[in-house]
Amino acid sequence: MKHVAIAIDGPAAAGKSTVAKIVAKRLGFVYIDTGAMYRAFTWYVLHRGLDPKNEEASCSLIPEVRISLKEDGSVFVCGHDVTRAIREPLVSSNVSYIASYKGIRLALIDLQRELGEKDNCVMDGRDIGSYVLPHAEVKIFQIASVETRAKRRFLENQEKGIPTTYEEVVADVKNRDYIDSHRDFDPLMQAEDAIPLDTSDMTIEEVVDAILRIVEEKTGVKACR
Ligand code: CDP
Repeated sequence: MKHVAIAIDGPAAAGKSTVAKIVAKRLGFVYIDTGAMYRAFTWYVLHRGLDPKNEEASCSLIPEVRISLKEDGSVFVCGHDVTRAIREPLVSSNVSYIASYKGIRLALIDLQRELGEKDNCVMDGRDIGSYVLPHAEVKIFQIASVETRAKRRFLENQEKGIPTTYEEVVADVKNRDYIDSHRDFDPLMQAEDAIPLDTSDMTIEEVVDAILRIVEEKTGVKACR
């Protein structure tokens, strides 16, 4: 089988990673969570006592930052297990600044492309179809209303024991969407050849099935039950 890449992009908390993880498992592909990489970088900047709003200081860490995504979904940066910490509100409210710096993006995109070339993959993020993997066989742009997204993320935070109010989640989602889609280099956008999928009124299973149908149509690859 020739190498197959599936790109899933969209705004904050659109449910991309939940769906991408299941789709990857059903196809036997590797799942690559690019948001976790920007979050891990942000965690490290904070850990080093630097201000994520300071581009020069944040970019000065590029040579020392080592990020790895493990098969079990855990995330490491420079030897620290940050799997849970990268979901904390302080990281969420700062990650879009870090993700707007060209130097950091280029370094993480190199890593993403390297991982994406190794195996068949499902990669989710903001710029996968438009910039990271422009030749991906399948490109999905997953959207949902701000209210739906905030509600989903609020419940997810509750399940994980991350303390946030619904209002804080709405503000975070709107703020990140704004910064992500207005940055100069490589902003969040739908690739011309991406298929839009409005998941506002869909369950996770319905979204997974819709994506798997598109994958089969475009690549002939069938999912396992
Ligand atoms: O899961 P959620 O939608 O909350 O976000 P994420 O995928 O974990 O990404 C966190 C942040 O990283 C986003 O708000 C973007 O600022 C940035 N990001 C990016 O710029 N490009 C990507 N390919 C992935 C994430």
